[in-house]
Amino acid sequence: MEIKKVGVVGCGLMGSGIVEVCARAGYDVVVREVDESLLAKGLERVRASLLKAVARGKATQEQADQALSHIRGTLDLADLADCDLVIEAAVENMAVKKEIFAALDGLLAPHAILASNTSSLCITEMASVTKRGDKVLGIHFFNPVPVMPLIEFVRTILTSDETMRIARQFGASLGKTMVVAKDTPGFIVNRLLIPYLLDAVRLYEEGLATREDIDTAIQLGLNHPMGPLTLLDFVGLDTTLYIADAMFEEYKDPRFAAPPLLRRMVLAGRLGRKSGKGFYEY
Ligand code: CAA
Ligand code: NAD
Repeated sequence: MEIKKVGVVGCGLMGSGIVEVCARAGYDVVVREVDESLLAKGLERVRASLLKAVARGKATQEQADQALSHIRGTLDLADLADCDLVIEAAVENMAVKKEIFAALDGLLAPHAILASNTSSLCITEMASVTKRGDKVLGIHFFNPVPVMPLIEFVRTILTSDETMRIARQFGASLGKTMVVAKDTPGFIVNRLLIPYLLDAVRLYEEGLATREDIDTAIQLGLNHPMGPLTLLDFVGLDTTLYIADAMFEEYKDPRFAAPPLLRRMVLAGRLGRKSGKGFYEY
């Protein structure tokens, strides 16, 4: 089986990046959002990122135009019916993801692969609402998708060797480096990243240092591209909270328990860059 057409569900921060890298690799891409304004915003993010790639010399104008010509937006999930691979990148919520997986299982051809870009949720549970458990896996990209070189594959006990082979071929076609993890909450990267980010919020909450000093300490003391509070704003405080809650729910380990400040910032609409305000203002 060869992948020709890719479906993406959700055109937020991650979905738009996934659409971009797939279109740049020459796949036809159809992306589904829940309403016109979110779809327009998501497609605009793709356009802006391609423009930036041209400005930075990472793509020619012709390549950017070519990529855009491969992309189609829709509000109707049925428009993904002829995709060979669908990558779900909707909100980090199991009920939403299961509804999408069940609907897609009924729409897609028998050969099609169903993947989730979830940061922490159980891929086996998503597979359980389909009749194609052997063709379900996690394809976890990193933010910003066009720049971050990694894909983390999540293989369940049902995922077949053939599905893994096709997924690897697909990842290689995007120019990504791939690692494989078992279906456990947070996989490799977020199992390590989330307790670190939550601890940074705890330090700030305790008044140990200013937000700037916490970030500068990590950026310059450990040579990280971003300090943890800047990274939290970048990932989205809502998404981080949903990930922490999902991991705490499974492990019951206090390392994954969301600090009160994080939950309150999300309740107050301070979601980070995406809402214009998080630990910093944008
Ligand atoms: N397309 C292609 N290339 C692009 C691009 C685009 N749209 N935008 C930028 N680039 C390239 C630039 O040309 C540049 O490349 P060179 O170094 O070769 O010149 C590089 O990407 C960096 O770009 P910028 O100079 O614009 O940006 P920067 O140096 O300020 O870095 C950053 C920005 C890459 C985001 C950096 O700050 C960073 O790596 N931050 C940490 C990001 C991170 O940790 N992400 C993971 C989050 S966790 C996650 O994703 C998992 C989860 O489940 C929550
Ligand atoms: P986001 O909030 O930016 O985007 C989610 C989008 O999904 C929204 O635009 C929403 O309208 C849309 N959506 C919700 N339900 C939908 C449905 N039924 N059909 C179509 N679209 C729907 O979130 P994000 O940061 O892009 O995260 C998406 C997924 O990727 C989550 O599972 C998250 O955990 C994961 N992830 C996030 C990051 C990150 O750094 N933000 C990194 C890796 C993985």
